[in-house]
Amino acid sequence: MNILILGSGGREHALAWKTAQSSRVDKLFIAPGNAGSAQAGTNVNIAVIDFEKTGSFAVENKVDLIVVGPEDPLVKGIYDYFKQTPGLQHIPVIGPSKEGARLEGSKDFAKAFMRRHNIPTAAYFSVIPEKADQGFAFLETLNPPYVLKADGLAAGKGVLILNELQEAKDELRHMLDGKFGEASKKVVVEEYLSGIELSAFVITDGIHYKILPEAKDYKRIGEGDTGPNTGGMGAVSPVPFATPDFMSKVEDRIIRPTVEGIRKEQIDYQGFIFFGLMNCRGEPYVVEYNARLGDPESEVILPRLQCDIVSLFESVVNKTLDAAEVSFDPRAVTTVMLASGGYPGDYEKGKEITGLDKVSDSIVFHAGTKIVDGRIVTNGGRVMAVSSVGNTFREALAVSNKNAAIINFNKKYYRRDIGFDL
Ligand code: AMP
Ligand code: GLY
Repeated sequence: MNILILGSGGREHALAWKTAQSSRVDKLFIAPGNAGSAQAGTNVNIAVIDFEKTGSFAVENKVDLIVVGPEDPLVKGIYDYFKQTPGLQHIPVIGPSKEGARLEGSKDFAKAFMRRHNIPTAAYFSVIPEKADQGFAFLETLNPPYVLKADGLAAGKGVLILNELQEAKDELRHMLDGKFGEASKKVVVEEYLSGIELSAFVITDGIHYKILPEAKDYKRIGEGDTGPNTGGMGAVSPVPFATPDFMSKVEDRIIRPTVEGIRKEQIDYQGFIFFGLMNCRGEPYVVEYNARLGDPESEVILPRLQCDIVSLFESVVNKTLDAAEVSFDPRAVTTVMLASGGYPGDYEKGKEITGLDKVSDSIVFHAGTKIVDGRIVTNGGRVMAVSSVGNTFREALAVSNKNAAIINFNKKYYRRDIGFDL
């Protein structure tokens, strides 16, 4: 088969790397891809939200399956576009419909879905400008800190956590006034959940699901989990505190009710569900849903997946996922993200990356990289994820950290403390 993967990050390089291992694949395309995905397949210069160009490329190149990496095209309805456009209907898309992607694209939709299906999550109240007073009143019923979430996608910046009630009221007002544009014209005010976070993943055909390995992501830029949030600076899988007992609570209370809810509500969903979870003294709560795999979680999950990912995608399309064989490497995988100095604020691009030929025992997944005149240069804030396997996560981390030090570019930055809290 010919497969097209959409996206350009470490997640998409990892998807391309895993897909390229399948004997089912003839041609593999990645749009737009990066310097790493170019080693697994052929990069195609099409933006992930350009559905028309994606469609004509897919037809001209006899693409049999499209795998969507990031949320943007999903929330904008790429699944529905292929399903509804004559001439494209025979090309299945791995990713939920626009309706399904609302689990990520609208915090209010996700919270109401969880409420309907009794899925444990923080208490909340959704506020629109005309009901600001009710939002202020709800805030007064909560204990600090206060959590405010823009309803829509806000490039990972739409969640504010505030310590003072007055500050929270002022920020709620600013958000409703358009601090994050249309995304914050509705705001979810939430109870604060205190605990330790982890990410769980499933692949689903809308009826059945298979649980993928869980992971823990390190979101803050600074060591010791300090400073601003980033897309993710490193990850480990498995997660030591995700014990069989805890994970069975996650499956019973969260995963199964979510997939059953999707089925009962007749939401078209064939793809990944990412459960952002909080472990509050051994009890799991949903912090957020995402309609895709995580990044950098993919860079630790996909190396653990031992089965053929293309067969898995085929059983999703055929709705026979219940019969699919899924197996994982029980060993630990860690990843350490190399970032451009200044990220998540301003940073420079175009720095030559050296030392890749000296890396041993790690898989380097590219994120913000591109090839210029035959040289690999930086092209984003998160540049590459150095993934390693070990018998324990500490063993794996030692290898990731060794190679993170060998790869070089001007103003390289990485956290040396991934896994410090485990
Ligand atoms: P979200 O985009 O919903 O995942 O929120 C971003 C981050 O804010 C999460 O990864 C958590 O670290 C934090 N967060 C969100 N909601 C809550 C909550 N109710 N209680 C505590 N922390 C939260
Ligand atoms: N690493 C978090 C995410 O992919 O949203």
